[in-house]
Amino acid sequence: MADEEWTHRGIDVNTPSVARLYDYYLGGKDNFPADRLAAEEILASVPQVRTAARENRAFLGRAVRFLAHEGVEQFLDIGTGLPTQGNVHEVAQEIIPEARVAYVDHDPIVLAHARALLRGAKGEVTVVSGDLRRPEEILGASEIHDHLDFSKPVALLLVAIMHFITEADDPRRIIATLRDALPSGSYLVLSHGTHDLRREAARKGTEVYRRASSPLTLRSRTDIRQLFDGFDLVRPGLVWLPEWRPDDFPLYDDPSEALIVCGVGRKP
Ligand SMILES: C[S@@+](CC[C@H](N)C(=O)[O-])C[C@H]1O[C@@H](n2cnc3c(N)ncnc32)[C@H](O)[C@@H]1O
Repeated sequence: MADEEWTHRGIDVNTPSVARLYDYYLGGKDNFPADRLAAEEILASVPQVRTAARENRAFLGRAVRFLAHEGVEQFLDIGTGLPTQGNVHEVAQEIIPEARVAYVDHDPIVLAHARALLRGAKGEVTVVSGDLRRPEEILGASEIHDHLDFSKPVALLLVAIMHFITEADDPRRIIATLRDALPSGSYLVLSHGTHDLRREAARKGTEVYRRASSPLTLRSRTDIRQLFDGFDLVRPGLVWLPEWRPDDFPLYDDPSEALIVCGVGRKP
C-alpha cells in the first residue's frame, strides 16, 4: 500500500513506529522514510541492533517450540509486531496443529497486516487490538475469552515489548494482573533490552526512541528479573538471547552483543 493510502487511513507515517523500526532491522518492507531514517541513525551508532532483532526473533521461536513440546496449546502474544518469518502460530502449529494463538498489539499497521496474513488461516488464530498498559481490558475482551480457555495453561508472550512500558505505567503491576488470570502450569516468555552493559548503545537507543511511537525504557537485569515475580524461571534462567537453549553453536564470542536478555518462567 502507498504511503498516502496509509495516511488516508489515519496512520501517522511521520512518527517512527517501534513496530516498523523492528521490521526494518529484520529486513522487512513494512516501513516508511521516517522509520528508516530513525533506524539508520541507531544502526550507525549501534550496529548490533540488527543482530539483536534477529536473535530476539530466534529466541521467540525456540521458546514457543519448547513450550509446545511441554504440551502448552495456547499462546497470548502481546506486542505481536509485523508479521515476518516464523510467526508464533506457524511455529507452534508445526508441533501442535490445533494450537491456539491470540495476537494483541496497539499499532494499527501491525493489526492490518496480521489480519491480512491470517485471512486464509484456520480459526485457531485471532488478532485483537489491545494496549498492554491496560491489561484488564485485554483480559476482559470477548475476542480473547472466546478464543483462549483460561482454565488451561496459557503461554503469555511479552517479547521485546516490556521495554516500551515506562515506570509510570508500572510494569510489575501489568504482569501481575496478567499472571493472576492464568492457571498453574502457565508460562511467561519475556525478552527485554538492558543498559547493564554497553551504556553508550543504551544512551543512543533511548535518545532516538524518544521521537518514536513509544519511548524506550531499558532496565537492569535485577529489575528485569523482578518482572518474573510469581513465576519459576526454567533453565538456563535469565540470560542473553543467544544463551537461551541455543539450537546451534553461538555466532559470536560475546553474547552481550545481543543487547537483550530473556527468560521463560512457569507459574507454579
Ligand atoms: C519490537 S516489536 C516485538 C515484536 C515481537 N514480539 C517479537 O519479539 O518479534 C514490539 C511490538 O510491541 C508493540 N507494542 C508496544 N507497546 C505496546 C502496548 N502498550 N500495547 C500493545 N502493543 C505494544 C509494538 O506495536 C510492536 O509491534
